[in-house]
Amino acid sequence: MRTLTKLSAASAAPDRAGEEYAGDTKGVDAKRLDKKAAQRHESAIKHVTGQAAYIDDLPAPANALHIAIGLSPLAHGRLERLDLDPVRAMPGVVDVISFHDVPGHTDIGPVFHGDPIFVENEISYAGQCLFAVAADSHDAARRAAKAAIIEIDEQPASLDPVAATEKNDLVRPTHVQQSGDWQQSLSNARHVVSGEQFIGGQEHFYLEGQACLVTPSEDEGVVVHTSNQHPSETQKLVAEVLGIPFHAVTVEVRRMGGGFGGKETQASPWACIAALIARRTQRPARLRLSRGDDMRLTGKRHPFHSRYRLGVDDDGVIQGGDMTLIGDCGYSPDLSEAIVDRAMFHADNAYSLGAARVTGHRARTHTASNTAFRGFGGPQGMMLIEQAMDDIAHRLGEDPLTIRKRNLYRHGRETTHYGQEVEQLDLLHSLIGQLESSSDYWARRAEISAYNARSPIIRRGLALTPVKFGISFTAKHLNQAGALLHVYTDGSVMINHGGTEMGQGLHTKVCQVVARELGLELSCVSISATRTDKVPNTSPTAASSGADLNGQAARDAALKLRERLFAFALETLWPQAGLKLGDLQLKGGMLMAGSGEGKYRIAWGELVQAAYIGRVSLSAQGFYSTPLIHYDREAAKGRPFYYFAYGAAVSEVAVDTLSGEYQVTRVDILHDVGDSLNPAIDIGQIEGGFIQGMGWLTSEELKWNDAGRLLSDGPATYKIPAFGDLPATFNVELLEGHPNSQASIYRSKAVGEPPFMLAISVWSALRNALASLAPDGQCPRLDTPATPERVLMAIAAMQDHGDKGPAGHPREDDAHVQA
Ligand code: MTE
Ligand code: HPA
Ligand code: MOS
Repeated sequence: MRTLTKLSAASAAPDRAGEEYAGDTKGVDAKRLDKKAAQRHESAIKHVTGQAAYIDDLPAPANALHIAIGLSPLAHGRLERLDLDPVRAMPGVVDVISFHDVPGHTDIGPVFHGDPIFVENEISYAGQCLFAVAADSHDAARRAAKAAIIEIDEQPASLDPVAATEKNDLVRPTHVQQSGDWQQSLSNARHVVSGEQFIGGQEHFYLEGQACLVTPSEDEGVVVHTSNQHPSETQKLVAEVLGIPFHAVTVEVRRMGGGFGGKETQASPWACIAALIARRTQRPARLRLSRGDDMRLTGKRHPFHSRYRLGVDDDGVIQGGDMTLIGDCGYSPDLSEAIVDRAMFHADNAYSLGAARVTGHRARTHTASNTAFRGFGGPQGMMLIEQAMDDIAHRLGEDPLTIRKRNLYRHGRETTHYGQEVEQLDLLHSLIGQLESSSDYWARRAEISAYNARSPIIRRGLALTPVKFGISFTAKHLNQAGALLHVYTDGSVMINHGGTEMGQGLHTKVCQVVARELGLELSCVSISATRTDKVPNTSPTAASSGADLNGQAARDAALKLRERLFAFALETLWPQAGLKLGDLQLKGGMLMAGSGEGKYRIAWGELVQAAYIGRVSLSAQGFYSTPLIHYDREAAKGRPFYYFAYGAAVSEVAVDTLSGEYQVTRVDILHDVGDSLNPAIDIGQIEGGFIQGMGWLTSEELKWNDAGRLLSDGPATYKIPAFGDLPATFNVELLEGHPNSQASIYRSKAVGEPPFMLAISVWSALRNALASLAPDGQCPRLDTPATPERVLMAIAAMQDHGDKGPAGHPREDDAHVQA
């Protein structure tokens, strides 16, 4: 039976928009249920009733065109001939465009060059965009796209990122972070432990695929409706492709049906193509990728090949060593520089590495350009050190949790390999301690060991893994946000900000911030859509920073407006009262002054009216930039993160050793969101992030054939978690009593990505179950996704190797260690 998470009653209860939760709190620790904060998602009712409009739901004029993309059938080669006349001749076709039809920029690489809008000569992956066709219907466009005559001088596809790295075939230069003398720490160590792993990629599988609708506007401009995490970048790229000023392009995003990083850079190409068609034809143009095309055309989470060699003392505490990460970037840089950096920043997870060197390579392969995906490289970085923790524990014959706890950052060992001091160490230790007892870790460990000893077929495994995730964009300039606040004369409030809504509840949280600052009910505050003509030059909604940045910008706008209203009250409303600024407050829909709530009170609506008549501006702009952060990439040292978010999970699995099939039977999570902005939404993020992470590590397998063609290109061949994959027991709790030590918005913490990495506990529990079959001192290698097939292969490898050593995991002889 699924036990309900403690706070989820709050998200389920309210029945009218803006109404406070007042439901049954039986079984819920009332103290923890911050009723005011646990508001449901601003679109919750619309989501579940189908009224929330996504791009394809937007009504378009009857003359709107539909666009289909012509994809490269091969992964690498020279485009010798592209004959589009047969496409033009197909029924319903209105326009067909390719490389030479682009008036402006043809390279739409977001950060670095390397992403042609259409192939000119060189084809770099199977599925790459060759041309676009616009027709009267979606069907006609898709049929017509198939009529192209394509001749390619095929060349061998490079699909092995490790071989590419050896040949120095990289999309960006290698970066190294280093602290202390790592070689000496290896040569002096009592034990040297080493290992390798392959971590598979992940398809975003957002429910709403890539989609946009572009309408030509007056003069040379366009209005772009798009499912998009980065409207400002799309505005820039559309303008550059058309060769028009940025101000002629307006991008609007009301909501996405999921983004997960897949719409940070990779929503732009479709907007650019639709904009070209819209301007050429003077007709609105829709582009919605089919699921298969979406999976073939767009990049995914980076697969990683990683290895480590660490020196540890007799207690299993890491003294130092060497870690190497190879990210498979696909054919172009996209965001890979920052993604592999973030993997490197998280190669320590929550543990001190001592004197360590961390190297990150960005390999080029002939696949779609891999991109942002929840965690942004962080998950892949953490996987290596979590493998090491289990390897060390088995080598020394200790429980993995004991080894993890000994290696946690602690006083005296609080500096990361890139020079940032880890704060809130007590929080980290107490969080793990609390979860250890609430999950009953040690009693269950004993029970599972006894069970495994008498169970030949089914083996159970248990693991606790922590998360420490750095919050801030590592590209410093992105850590800024703007907001625009309007108060209308009826007292209703409209807030706009630079962030986008993708289901994560950002708009709800930002409205809550404004309501709180102005002392209003949440129902008084509304957000329309994110638009580049309201708040300009915005950062992507990414790096989990949406509420941190835009919440602060909205707060800044609200404070400015409040100051203006206070000044108006002191000077105009109550000039004789002898009141000071500090006497005024906005609360419960009133402006109040003086002690005892007595004399000076005015309702919000009347105040706004009076201020309007008094010619006070009722509109304010807000801005925020994150303080304290810096990173010197040359020196590979700095403080890239404003703070860290923490969490930990205990997962239990049961493996059928004859088939490799397994179940995740119980999961306990304790997660740190500081003082939560909205506990109901935060719990939803934790549950969703965990399950998405579990899918990445267990069932979601990307397969390409030897020629580089993606075989797993739809739900029939690519398995995301389904309802039945939910752990039978799933306990999720928020850590209480630890406000952010930094001055983030109301001392909350970002929640979007960190919980994703809690799922590493599932993989570690699987290894734990398999280790019960291995000779003492060994923990079998388990690459991911750890499908039943891979689990079975790991079991078979152990049986083959007998006592020669752990499967695929050569044991290093302590006596022969060379640095
Ligand atoms: N939650 C939902 N429902 N849908 C999403 O697409 N994206 C995740 C996370 N949670 C996502 C989500 C990712 S990758 C990020 S970076 C954050 O939300 C972005 O939003 P935030 O910064 O407002 O948390
Ligand atoms: N996280 C997510 N997206 C980003 C980042 C980051 O650190 N940097 C640039 N885009
Ligand atoms: Mo999230 S991967 O930073 O969009």
